[in-house]
Amino acid sequence: MTERLGPEEIARAAALLRAGALVAFPTETVYGLGADACNGRAVAAVFEAKGRPRFNPLICHYASADAAFADVRPDARARALAAAFWPGPLSLVLPRRAGCRVDLLASAGLDTLAVRVPAHPLALDLLRRVDRPVAAPSANRSGRVSPTTAQDVLEELGGRIAAVLDGGPCPVGLESTVLDLSGRGVVLLRPGGVPPEAIEAVIGPVGRDRPSGSAAEAATPRSPGLLASHYAPSLPLRLNATSVAPDEALLAFGRPLPGAGLVWSLSESGDLREAAARLFAGLRWLDTEGARRGLRRIAAMPVPAHGLGLAINDRLARAAAPRPDAARP
Ligand code: TXA
Ligand code: MG
Repeated sequence: MTERLGPEEIARAAALLRAGALVAFPTETVYGLGADACNGRAVAAVFEAKGRPRFNPLICHYASADAAFADVRPDARARALAAAFWPGPLSLVLPRRAGCRVDLLASAGLDTLAVRVPAHPLALDLLRRVDRPVAAPSANRSGRVSPTTAQDVLEELGGRIAAVLDGGPCPVGLESTVLDLSGRGVVLLRPGGVPPEAIEAVIGPVGRDRPSGSAAEAATPRSPGLLASHYAPSLPLRLNATSVAPDEALLAFGRPLPGAGLVWSLSESGDLREAAARLFAGLRWLDTEGARRGLRRIAAMPVPAHGLGLAINDRLARAAAPRPDAARP
């Protein structure tokens, strides 16, 4: 049984985490599956509950930049980015300090650690109460769409985790931007809630060696978690649709194309922020409702490739990518 805790039960959520249990909690991006990052058994249980491959490291969450930088070594760029965007949807991959408290399993054996200070008031309150780094991947089973409500979390992980702290829907709706600062250059590992343009305004050009979802990246992902197929709904997804068939569900951006069997509008007015916040909920809804009505596919209208649109297109490309599971007999 997974307990559903209201915001007033936050002390219980903190106590469970301190005791080594798994507790999902809201952040401004998506719900995270939290565990005491210093407790190897708790971290191992996260991989278990998600069915996540052990080579894919976890992001550690902190209540402040000072707390985060006690475990990793920030350079001037990392400090500038933390000052500009924390608390907020940005994760920084940095070298672990010699005395890093976080269990090596959270880093998947790498000598780096991804850290972030989330902006959600409940998450910050929880992190202050736990007073330890909290490892938290998105609270979905591996390879599936990230949860943006407590109900989504229960559908993904109900019965597998101790509790979910319910803070309502996540305002950003897409995961954090992951930036690798552990080498000499700066590499965008995952586009997310902070657009690359905003990052470049603070630290200058950001590298992006291979487009996400490309074959080269799928073969040797730079970030271990960035496999091409991810966020996968069970109905196939068709990208850049300029027309739609009656047996298709439509993920619309701007004015919806006529003729779809079922429509979810990301944003009628073409607002990228609104579209990001509605993306995962839309994929989940079109998937279940579309399958229930016997539809065969989800067609997605094009979304502009700038600002948050980069992160939206990245998630859509992964959701549409061929799936390793489907290829097996
Ligand atoms: O918005 C978010 O980031 C959410 C909320 C809960 O904070 N968390 C999240 O975690 O999306 P997860 O585990 O689903 O995605 C973390 C991504 C993965 O692609 C992982 O491979 C990458 O960050 N990552 C984590 N640590 C890394 C490291 N040391 N080096 C390279 N990539 C890393
Ligand atoms: Mg995830």
